[in-house]
Amino acid sequence: MASTQRNSFTGKLGFVLAAAGSAVGLGNIWRFPYLAAKYGGGIFLLVYLALSVTFGFTLMVAEIAIGRKTQQSPIGAYKALHKRFAFVGVLASAIPALILPYYSVIGGWVMKYSAGFITGSAGEMANDGFFGGYISQFTEPLLWFLAFISMTAVVVMCGVKKGIEKVSKVMMPVLVILMLFVVIYSLCTIDGAIDGLIYYVKPDFSRFGVKTVIAAMGQLFYSMSLAMGIMITFGSYMKKDISIERSTHQIEIFDAGIAFLAGLMIVPACFAFSKGDPAALGAGPGLMFGVLPQVFEAMPAGDVIGAAFFVMVLLAALTSSISLMETVVSTLHDKWHISRISSCLIVLDFCAVLGTLSCLGYSHWSHVKLLGMQLLDFFDFVTNNLMMPVVALATCVLVAYFIKPKTIIDEVSISGDFKQKTLFSAVIRYVAPVCLLAILIWAVMGTFTSIQLFQL
Ligand code: TRP
Repeated sequence: MASTQRNSFTGKLGFVLAAAGSAVGLGNIWRFPYLAAKYGGGIFLLVYLALSVTFGFTLMVAEIAIGRKTQQSPIGAYKALHKRFAFVGVLASAIPALILPYYSVIGGWVMKYSAGFITGSAGEMANDGFFGGYISQFTEPLLWFLAFISMTAVVVMCGVKKGIEKVSKVMMPVLVILMLFVVIYSLCTIDGAIDGLIYYVKPDFSRFGVKTVIAAMGQLFYSMSLAMGIMITFGSYMKKDISIERSTHQIEIFDAGIAFLAGLMIVPACFAFSKGDPAALGAGPGLMFGVLPQVFEAMPAGDVIGAAFFVMVLLAALTSSISLMETVVSTLHDKWHISRISSCLIVLDFCAVLGTLSCLGYSHWSHVKLLGMQLLDFFDFVTNNLMMPVVALATCVLVAYFIKPKTIIDEVSISGDFKQKTLFSAVIRYVAPVCLLAILIWAVMGTFTSIQLFQL
C-alpha cells in the first residue's frame, strides 16, 4: 500500500495510547500475576524487568521501525525486506488468530464475574472452590465465552471500535486508581499480606531457572504484543517525526506498571490467604478469579468496588480482543480479499470451535492432555512459548544479518538521535538470537522428552 493511503496516528500521544491500549489487557491483569505467583514472585519480576528493557525494547524498536519503513502490514513487510523471510509474516499473522479464542474464554470468565458482582452474588463467588466448580461445568462458561466473542465480532463488524476505545480511555485511569486503592487497602488490612508483599518483590535467587526466563519471555511477547506483527502494523501508521525510541520506553513503562500493580493486588493477598502454600500460588489461569472475590469480600463496599473492577477489566479485555480480531480480519481481507463481514464470520466460527475446545478442557475433557497440558494452557503455550520465539528469532536474524541493524537505526534516527543504538545492535545481533535459540531448544526438548505427546 502506498504511504499516502495509510492512516496515521495524529500525534505522539496518539501512537503511544493506541499501542498501550492494545497492549494493556488480560495479559497484564490476569496473566502476569499468576505467572509471578507461580515462578517465585520477586525473581520473576526481576527477570521480567531485565528482559523488558533489553530484549523487549530491542524487538519493539525493530518491529515499529520495520512497519514505518516498509509501510506495510506484517505479511507484506517481511516479504518486502527479504523474500526468504516471507514465511515469518505468515507465521506472525497466525498468532493473533490462535490467541483470540482462548483470550475470549477468559474474557467470558470476566463477564461472568462482572455479572455476578452486579447482581449481588459477590459473597457466593468468594467461597472457596467457587471458581473451580464454575469452570468445570460446561454450558455456562461456554455461553459467556460465546457472548464475549460475539460482542467482539459485532464491534468489529459494525466498525464502532472508536466508541469503545473512547470509553476505555476514560476508564483506564479509573481502573488504575481503583487498583491502587485495593492494593493499599489489602496490604494494610489483610493479615499476612506484608509477608506476601515480600514474596512478591524480594527476589529469591534459589528459584531462578530456565523456566523463569521462558515464562517471563513468553509473557513479555504476549503483554507487549510483540512477535506477532502487531507492532509492525502500528509502526506503519506512525509518523516519521515521532521518536520510536521514546514511544517504546513509554509503552514499556505503562505496560509493566499496570502488570506490576495487578500483581500487587493479587499475589500478596493469595499468599496471605493460603499462608504461602505453593499449590495455591501455582494455581495458574484461575488465580485472579479465586483470590480477588475474597479480597473484595473482606472490604467495606467490596461488592460495589468488585463490580466496578470487573467491569473495567472487561473493557480492557474487550479493547484487546477487538484489536486481535481486527488484525485477523484485516489479514484475511488483505490476503484473500474477503469482505469484512465474511471475514468476521469466518473468524467468529473459527474462534467458536477453538474456544469451545478450551472450555471443554476444563469440563468434559479435563482428562485430555496435549503435551501434558490442559487445552487452554496448550494454546497459550504453543503461541507464547513456541511460535512467538520463532518469529522473534527470525526477526532478529533478518535484521542482524540480512538487512543489517543500520537500516533500523537509520529509520529510528529520522526523528532524532537513537541513544541506545549500541544496546540495540548488541542485543539484536548476539544476545537475543542466542537466548531465543537456547529457549526454543530447551522448550522443545523439555516438552517432548519429559511428557507423553497425547494423554487420554
Ligand atoms: N497484549 C494484550 C494483553 O496484554 C494481549 C494481546 C496479545 C493483544 N496480542 C495482541 C492485544 C494483539 C491486541 C492485539 O492483554
